[in-house]
Amino acid sequence: DTRSRVRALVAAQQDQLTRQGVDQEMLARQMRQVYEEFTQLRMHYQFGIDEVQTKVNILRQEFEQIHDYSPIEHVRSRLKSTESLIEKAVRTGGEMTIPAIRARIHDIAGVRITCSFVSDVYWIADMLSRQPDLEVLTVKDYIAAPKPNGYRSLHVIVQVPVFLSQHTEYVPVELQLRTIAMDFWASTEHKLSYKYEKNLPASLRAELDDAARVAADLDERMERMRAEIRPMPEHSAP
Ligand code: GTP
Ligand code: MG
Repeated sequence: DTRSRVRALVAAQQDQLTRQGVDQEMLARQMRQVYEEFTQLRMHYQFGIDEVQTKVNILRQEFEQIHDYSPIEHVRSRLKSTESLIEKAVRTGGEMTIPAIRARIHDIAGVRITCSFVSDVYWIADMLSRQPDLEVLTVKDYIAAPKPNGYRSLHVIVQVPVFLSQHTEYVPVELQLRTIAMDFWASTEHKLSYKYEKNLPASLRAELDDAARVAADLDERMERMRAEIRPMPEHSAP
């Protein structure tokens, strides 16, 4: 039940909270409230995902019909569970109220778009960003500047309007755009990190480093061949 789940979350964060001198009774109370409120609110984030997914599907189907080719290979979405929202809310620190949590956590709704080619990644991001009802909140280009571990992807947080019966809600959605090679690397890295709980043996770390270079090289080679398939779009901005 809710109480025991919240208790378990507080217990899991106990060390950190004690170090921060947090009143644990009060925190547990706040977390219980956040838990209940967010369980209702979570639906709005699903609507945000639905809106973005519709946009992506429209682009994809239009491309398939006109060009017999789609720059989008696959699309997956996920909605953060209430448990992992609370876990992240505690981990990131700050006020444990719904407005404060919504202001600091922008990946409650996530949509991952996988493309064949790097230029298509930027192209799709560009097309979505130029849609008048989407507002771009942040862009993190880990393709131009990969993370130290070799992670590459384009992250765009967009805000999408969701029209409810009584009001319009603006929901942030985290878009992760990447190539098939980037996705393959990231999912493997994720599985390994999960298995080793971030303490990867040096040999595996080196193997991953090397795989990241190979994946980036493959993307470059594929990009050169792409030109043969279809000319570069006008608006792409890699
Ligand atoms: P989060 O608190 O994890 O959301 O980090 P952040 O706010 O600093 O955002 P960032 O852009 O770094 O990462 C957001 C998301 O991108 C993560 O939740 C993962 O899904 C993905 N990601 C980022 N870095 C890595 C990585 O090194 N490996 C893998 N597999 N995924 C990553
Ligand atoms: Mg995240």
